[in-house]
Amino acid sequence: MTKYRFTPQTYRSFALASLAALALSTGCDEDQSAEGPPKSAVPRTYGDAPAAGAPAAPQVDPAAVLAAAKPLFGALDAEAKNADNPWTAPKADLGRMLYYETRLSKNHDLSCNSCHDLEKFGVDVREIDGKRAKTSEGHKKAFGDRNSPTVYNAAFHLAQFWDGRAADVEEQAKGPILNPVEMAMPDEATVVATLKSIPGYVEAFKTAFPDSADPVTYDNMAKAIGVFERKLVTPSKFDVFIAGDASALTDAEAAGLKTFMDVGCTQCHSGALLGGNQFQKLGSVKPWPGAKDEGRFALTKSAPDKFSFKVPSLRNITETAPYLHDGSVESLEVMVQKMAEHQLAKGSLSDEETKSIMTFLATLTGDVDAEYIKAPTLPDSGPDTPAPDAS
Ligand code: HEC
Ligand code: HEC
Repeated sequence: MTKYRFTPQTYRSFALASLAALALSTGCDEDQSAEGPPKSAVPRTYGDAPAAGAPAAPQVDPAAVLAAAKPLFGALDAEAKNADNPWTAPKADLGRMLYYETRLSKNHDLSCNSCHDLEKFGVDVREIDGKRAKTSEGHKKAFGDRNSPTVYNAAFHLAQFWDGRAADVEEQAKGPILNPVEMAMPDEATVVATLKSIPGYVEAFKTAFPDSADPVTYDNMAKAIGVFERKLVTPSKFDVFIAGDASALTDAEAAGLKTFMDVGCTQCHSGALLGGNQFQKLGSVKPWPGAKDEGRFALTKSAPDKFSFKVPSLRNITETAPYLHDGSVESLEVMVQKMAEHQLAKGSLSDEETKSIMTFLATLTGDVDAEYIKAPTLPDSGPDTPAPDAS
């Protein structure tokens, strides 16, 4: 079973402890409600201290921010359920093995984890010249055109890939293994033959799919990987907050959430994932300079879909640089400013607004379940298992 390493209580004490450490809490008012006046003697402010004579920085009432946020967001579920592929421990155990399995690649050198490193928030952290590569290196050092999105919480998205071309994680999992610039296996039959050549997999598929007459199939492989991904979930203190505990965020974080809502990021980044639930045009307000990838247009051929992409989730966003479908933006701060410029009628953010939003975004960095993602021991090859093929 999944066991999260935090409980609402942990975050509550964390939040309270940091408030105390910041000396912001002078008899401070967990029960402060939207109605009553603040009981705190110290005004709860955010941003830099106002210069003498300047108007006082706006006060923030976390309970009021929570009330405004509730209809726009939600807490993460522990599992992204799929009625057609229910989660079972044997399926997830098999899926975990397959996720780390390099023999699903032509040259036995790439697994899902190469481009979606589970210990690194599910993205590709391999570097070129000391910097994370914008796109991922696949078979024979080929590079695709798109940045590897995180697999954490991805199973909740309305569809998979930047352009939404796969319906769900089960369908998605069938793609990279056969993609010539990714794992480069020649066809499904070769993948199935490889799995059947490994006695440990024949057993594991039988246990995971007890009702299948022929358990080792390409579809069942994708189902097992999908089931494993359905619990790659990273709850954070934002979940404790949005579930109703206004003290789970510091004043500065709650103020950042208020800024995020006030400037209109929530037009697109909403729901439990702060994204993942709609497609939108990159450059909806002001065209994106040098935009090449036409996104969803390639699928739908519908003019309004030109340059439109799935709105990415902002969960763990501090950890998943570089940003955008092409990995072209390295810094989160620049990314936030560019969003205001190209996606919002407002057109720009003050430094203080940007800083405030950054403070909020950090609350979305969650807890990875180290036990669940632990790399398993993989079964030995059999006499007929194909050799690595670098060609
Ligand atoms: C060589 C690098 C590479 C490998 C190996 C790879 N992926 Fe990916 N993955 C990507 C890239 C790049 C994308 C985005 C492509 C696009 O949107 O067109 C992606 C997209 C995804 C997505 C969609 C997430 C989202 O937000 O839409 C999931 C889920 C995923 N991969 C899971 C897997 C699994 C499971 C495997 C192993 C079977 C795997 N990947 C192997 C690079 C890789
Ligand atoms: C009109 C819709 C819209 C609005 C409003 C919007 N965004 Fe976005 N955002 C997107 C889309 C679409 C993308 C992905 C575009 C791409 O990859 O080319 C994106 C990408 C991002 C990314 C990069 C995510 C990643 O994983 O690469 C961040 C960070 C972000 N937005 C933050 C914000 C913030 C902060 C605001 C408010 C200042 C905001 N967005 C407003 C639609 C929007």
